[in-house]
Parts: sequence; C-alpha cells; structure tokens
Amino acid sequence: MSLILGIESSCDETAAALVTSERRVLAHRLATQESEHRPFGGVVPEIAARAHVEILPSLIEEALAEAKVRLADVDAIAATAGPGLVGGVMVGLVTAKGLALASGKPLVAVNHLEGHALSPMLSEPDLAFPYLLLLVSGGHCQLLFVEGLGRYRRLATTIDDAAGEAFDKTAKLLGLGYPGGPAVERAAEAGDANAVPLPRPLVGSPEPHFSFAGLKSAVLRARDGGAYRPADLAASFQQTVVDCLVNRTARALREARGATALVVAGGVAANKAIRGALTDLAAAHDLPFVAPPLWLCTDNAAMIGWAGALRFEAGLIDGLDAPARARWPL
Ligand code: KG4
Ligand code: ZN
Repeated sequence: MSLILGIESSCDETAAALVTSERRVLAHRLATQESEHRPFGGVVPEIAARAHVEILPSLIEEALAEAKVRLADVDAIAATAGPGLVGGVMVGLVTAKGLALASGKPLVAVNHLEGHALSPMLSEPDLAFPYLLLLVSGGHCQLLFVEGLGRYRRLATTIDDAAGEAFDKTAKLLGLGYPGGPAVERAAEAGDANAVPLPRPLVGSPEPHFSFAGLKSAVLRARDGGAYRPADLAASFQQTVVDCLVNRTARALREARGATALVVAGGVAANKAIRGALTDLAAAHDLPFVAPPLWLCTDNAAMIGWAGALRFEAGLIDGLDAPARARWPL
C-alpha cells in the first residue's frame, strides 16, 4: 500500500488530500475562492494564483494533521501539472516540488483531467474499467471512454464553450449572479422549460461533439426581445443543455462498447435535471449510473492523490523539471 499527498490548484479551488492506493481518503481539505471572484463575475487568474500561494501551505498542514501522518510517512507527492490557469498550476506544482526536494520523496505530475476521469473509483469501489465518463464542468465538456490507467479515449469535446461556462454566461445575461449553475437551476424551478424556443446545437448530428456558444447567443436574443420571463428563459436554457448532453452521450454510448457504467463528473453534475436525465439514459441502456458525491465531482485534491497513487504504483514518477501546462489534452 502506498500513501500519497495530493495537491490541486488549477482553477479557483485550493486543495490538499491524503489518499492511499487502497482507495482510502484519509483527509481532504479544500478552500474555495468563490467570494474573491464573485465581484468580477468569473475567475480572475491573477487573484486565483495569489490566493493559492496564501492558503496552500496551511491546507497541506491541516490535511497531514487530519490524517495523522507526517510528510516523512508519504510515499509520493502528487500535484496537478495542468491543464488549467497556469499561474495557479505553478503554485501547486512548485509547492509539490519543494516538498519533494525537502523530503526526498518522488513527485508525480498529474493531469487534472486524469484526476477527474479516475475519481469515481474512490466512491464506487466496484467500478471497473472500461466506463463512459461525461465530464462537465466550468472548464471541460468531454466524453471519455476510460479503459484503464493512461488509457482514455476522448469520444467528444466541446467545439466552443464548456457546459458550466454556458450556465455561468447565461446566469450573467439573466442577472442571476455567480457561479451561474446553481443560480440558473434555482431560477428554472419557477419557469416553463418549453416557453422559449432555443436551438439545440449539434443535436442529432453525425459528428460527436458539443457546442454551446450559439445557445448563449440565442438566450441573449430572447432576453432582448423582452417577451419572456427570466424564470422561463432559465428553465428553457437548462432543458436545452439537458437535451444536448443526453443526445451526445447517447451517441457516445454506441461507440463505448463494453462499458460497465455511465459515469458523470464535474461541477455541472450537481444539476438535478441533468442527473435525472442521465439516470434515465443509463437505465435505457441497461447500465448502472454512477454520480460520485459532489465534493468528489468538483475540483478536489483527493482525485489528484488517487491518480497519483495509481501512477506511482505503476512506476510513473516525474522529475523536478516537470512543466506546468496551461493546455494538456489527455
Ligand atoms: O468542476 P467545477 O467545480 O470546476 C471546474 O470548472 O473545473 O465546476 C464548476 C462549474 C461552474 O461552471 C458552475 O456554474 C457549474 O459547475 N455548476 C452547475 C451547478 N453547480 C455548479 N451547473 C449547473 N447546475 C448546477 N447546479
Ligand atoms: Zn476540474
């Protein structure tokens, strides 16, 4: 068994966790910077990087204390090395390098997307490869066929905005605040999902990808037309995203032969309408539907520690020259 310290700092969450190669999370600490970015209506990279610098060391200390271990007890230090806001990634990665240097422990540079892809294994001990993962967050919107460690087939991605980004931008258009997803979901509860006719980009298309930029523009036009209530705009927008996600996932399921489960991850997976529709889709395909607890779906360090544990056990460690990458496709 190995014990890994995981570090995450690629967006607006600072996090540290201790995870074992036996799928146990001994401690996980997270600080969200939401309130610091709210006045700007989105994540400001410079503010995010500075906040990571201030908070990460104490989070690591807290996580070690909660797990009742010392740095000397860990087998490796794993940190997100990208993709993400590169200033933030550098803070976590350089911190991990410093700790690795001081303790003589190896460094594992983890792809944040690999962390998301493997995270459902932490809450679902029986989950077996291969599975189809719909990763929907503020930064990502992808369908990944997860066949094993290091074996990810990207079946679809967004050609413009991510699903969470579409929620955030729509919330801004409707004056609902930040972060947009929960605000749109709340507003949608009082609205009619069929009130506003909106386009469903790429639905039914033979190509596999997602597209949400046109949808956002359509919401803007409908808002400026003045004929609709904000609640109806929110509900119709949300239903459109549901339809797009379900249609694209159904298409990918045809390619994901042998999948043992349909899994969803990312902050947008918090949305009840989306969860409900995916539950039905999985049932229609006779597949179990796996939606990890929210803290594991959104950015966290346990998923980085877990991916780090699998990589470490496979002998995949990195040198102290491992680069921080803004872009890093799986
Ligand atoms: O995974 P996450 O915490 O961070 C990254 O983007 O990596 O995802 C955050 C995204 C935001 O765009 C937020 O608006 C969206 O997830 N989100 C939601 C809901 N809760 C969070 N979108 C729709 N419905 C929700 N209830
Ligand atoms: Zn993420």
